[in-house]
Amino acid sequence: MDLSVLYNLSYGLYIVGAFKNGKAVGCTINTCFQITSDTPRVAVSLNKNNHTLEAVLQNGRFSVSILSEDSDPAVIGRFGFMSSRDTDKYEGRGYEVIDYVPCVNGRFAGRLILEVEQTVDCGTHMLIIARLTDTVKGEGTPMTYAYYHNVIKGKEPKNAPTYRGDSTGKDVTAKRRFECGVCGYIAETEGEDLPADYICPICSVDRSNFTEID
Ligand SMILES: Cc1cc2nc3c(=O)[nH]c(=O)nc-3n(C[C@H](O)[C@H](O)[C@H](O)COP(=O)(O)O)c2cc1C
Repeated sequence: MDLSVLYNLSYGLYIVGAFKNGKAVGCTINTCFQITSDTPRVAVSLNKNNHTLEAVLQNGRFSVSILSEDSDPAVIGRFGFMSSRDTDKYEGRGYEVIDYVPCVNGRFAGRLILEVEQTVDCGTHMLIIARLTDTVKGEGTPMTYAYYHNVIKGKEPKNAPTYRGDSTGKDVTAKRRFECGVCGYIAETEGEDLPADYICPICSVDRSNFTEID
């Protein structure tokens, strides 16, 4: 079976927000799709190891912020490569509470406020089926998963349902490449070292987390 055919499924990118014991938590997802229209419902797939799943199940409510192409890409890494168990992902960014759920601050293509209706145990992941209770209009072109891979040159961790485990977006004209040890982002230079004050554009860690590759 050629699993690369799965790469032809297309997705968007989203930030889930929820409260756990009063603390705002959340994570990046690419799996969010509308299931019904009369009573609008969506489904999201959350890994059982993700703290955000615990929050969503505990609280029964969550937000989905839809990334746009001009959203700050650092939010993807911060919410996608770190766990809310030991990191306050909202630090320095903040959130707005809408209908009792946290929505991370920033520029987004829109937001969905959702209430959990059903869960389906899918082994490593739980499929959450949720009813739409409110929306917030946003701006910008919604970011696709292809844009994240091809333009931002981002990757995904093992917890993402669509984990590919390969390296994407290699620029053969670059003379030196440095890989971020936290999120896998590859910084390319024309031959010079990465500056000492370099900050990963995806997950915001500093230069010491980068290792030269190739
Ligand atoms: C591009 C991208 C897509 C992701 N998609 C999903 C997803 O659809 N479902 C999921 O459970 N995790 C997904 N993840 C992984 C979670 O965001 C990640 O495991 C996060 O650290 C969980 O944080 P938490 O423990 O605070 O919930 C994705 C990560 C990235 C970077």
